Amino acid sequence: MYFSRKITEDTYYVGASDRRLELFENVFPIPKGVSYNSYVITDEKTALLDLMDESVSKQGFENIAGALNGRKLDYVVINHMEPDHCSKLDELILRYPEVKIVGNVKTLKMIGQFYDIDAESRFVTVNEGDTLQLGKHTLTFVNAPMVHWPEVMVTYDTFTKALFSADAFGTFGALGGNIFNDEYDFEYEFLEEARRYYTNIVGKYGMQVQAVLKKASTLDIKYICPLHGPVWRTNIDYIIDKYNTWSLYEPEVDSVMIAYASMYGNTENAVNVLANVLAEKGVKNIKIYDVSKTDVSYVLSDAFKYKRLVFASPTYNGGLYPKMENLLLDLKAHSLKNRKVAVFDNGSWSASAKKHMLEILGTMKVEVVESSLALKSSLKQGDMEALNQLAEEILK
Ligand SMILES: Cc1cc2nc3c(=O)[nH]c(=O)nc-3n(C[C@H](O)[C@H](O)[C@H](O)COP(=O)(O)O)c2cc1C
Ligand SMILES: [Fe+2]
Ligand SMILES: [Fe+2]
Repeated sequence: MYFSRKITEDTYYVGASDRRLELFENVFPIPKGVSYNSYVITDEKTALLDLMDESVSKQGFENIAGALNGRKLDYVVINHMEPDHCSKLDELILRYPEVKIVGNVKTLKMIGQFYDIDAESRFVTVNEGDTLQLGKHTLTFVNAPMVHWPEVMVTYDTFTKALFSADAFGTFGALGGNIFNDEYDFEYEFLEEARRYYTNIVGKYGMQVQAVLKKASTLDIKYICPLHGPVWRTNIDYIIDKYNTWSLYEPEVDSVMIAYASMYGNTENAVNVLANVLAEKGVKNIKIYDVSKTDVSYVLSDAFKYKRLVFASPTYNGGLYPKMENLLLDLKAHSLKNRKVAVFDNGSWSASAKKHMLEILGTMKVEVVESSLALKSSLKQGDMEALNQLAEEILK
């Protein structure tokens, strides 16, 4: 049985959610699942805006057919070629043999790479600013390269003022029945996952996101229809504001996030003492992560959220504890900047973790504060002055 919900005139949500998948992109844990959104417009001509992941495609095809209500499909607009959205393009063509594929030159090239189908003969090439008339609805196309792949574009319906925004403004988290932002307590249900989705998936491309936000600011937007997560129809400035903050690498919380590694608990103990000192100094909302326990995607997300970061690691075979190295390299890979950072290390014979942490941080646009705290196996009374100093420096 199909299900779909009307968004606005002639425009239907036909997406579906996966609550079973453990790892999105086989990397990111998604305990709350994920939705793959897809939209149908039924005007004089009919159009499908993006497809879905293979895992939900059976339901997806039923939903598409339900929304089309016996009509043929004239166009499929491919805003994004990633397989979580168009893994079943070949099957779509079998089901709707007359369908024309709408995309840009890069889209066509990628279709050729992913599929053994003749896309060219049914392809409608669109460039930035081009329009496609469906009847009352006119679709215009805006390029959004690297948000999240090079071929990405977004589609704007000038009739309904709906922006089909591809991965932009998306979030992890399944949808059920409710598809609109105002049908949820978004901040409670989705904000953390939206930040984790943005920072991990698109976080590296802040400049490109800024470029899209600039283009979007010239449009009158009533609906944002992303490929994952709720459709925005109220409070649109809220999510645009969040994207602006995230893509500018501006912190949201003036507090301290501490990420540590620890095998025997001594580095952990020092972190707890440090957090205590910070709290005594009036710092609220301190966040502490054990990098061995919490998946790196959550720590990275909070590194984008917090203004002040402390990293603490034992020395491991002359280097960094692997999970800490993984975290720092991940932060670097996502171009995290504009943060105040402090580090301290631990070692029982020849500590070098600090040196390695500073090497990675030295290649990033972050301010590393002076700290002489260096543990020899465990925190001692004699280290307290250095620890207090670190606390003062990170708060300055
Ligand atoms: C596999 C392994 C490799 C280590 N390599 C080093 C090292 O190269 N240099 C060093 O000073 N300590 C090394 N250590 C010791 C730890 O860094 C040290 O005991 C530290 O105090 C542990 O802190 P923790 O209690 O927070 O786990 C190593 C420990 C292990 C298990
Ligand atoms: Fe994507
Ligand atoms: Fe996606």
